[in-house]
Amino acid sequence: MKFFIDTADLDEIRAANDLGVLDGVTTNPSLVAKIVEDPDNFTYEDFKDHIAKICDIVGGPVSAEVTTLTADEMISQGEELASIDENVVVKCPLTLEGLKAMRHLSGNSIRINATLVFSPTQAILAAKAGASYVSPFVGRLDDISTDGMALIEQIVTIYRNYRFTTEVLVASVRHPQHVVEAAIMGADVATIPFKVIEQLAKHPLTDTGLDRFMKDAAVIKNR
Ligand code: E4P
Repeated sequence: MKFFIDTADLDEIRAANDLGVLDGVTTNPSLVAKIVEDPDNFTYEDFKDHIAKICDIVGGPVSAEVTTLTADEMISQGEELASIDENVVVKCPLTLEGLKAMRHLSGNSIRINATLVFSPTQAILAAKAGASYVSPFVGRLDDISTDGMALIEQIVTIYRNYRFTTEVLVASVRHPQHVVEAAIMGADVATIPFKVIEQLAKHPLTDTGLDRFMKDAAVIKNR
């Protein structure tokens, strides 16, 4: 199972990368907006520079999302984003226009992350459009009293049935239990906020056990 970090914050990306368990990064316009210090002067060139900085930190896939709505615009923006670094994966929304853009870009060897996916039918379309990753948003489904992880189970089953090679990237992860269930279901990737990555390592018995070991280690002299 691959772990991506779901952030555009360079400090968080560096910290997660230093742990040695990071396989990639996902960003979206909202995550980028969070790290912009001067919104009146943040240009498209600044956005591309920021994606390049992320690629310099992490040697794995970095999703950069298009900010346009028509297929033609997404294709042109997707080509531009893909030219930033060989690890850039172009994120396109699962709309009819997005599908056309995905089909075109994936046909030209540009890797695609199909985003804003909320149903099994959308996931089937993403696979048929040649997306490398499909991003079902589990947390946002949970938010509206719909079982987000049930969608992951459906997509994993459907992709196995037809041997689709599109990887299931569990997105909108809110807590460690999403990661546990994704792993049990056999999802390929989870993209996880930094805070939740930290929570994955935490256990109170580890803390109390270590405390006891450190106290008892005092018996060992001359270290
Ligand atoms: C990542 O690819 C998604 O854009 C992200 O996980 C969405 O998360 P949110 O629902 O917490 O905004």
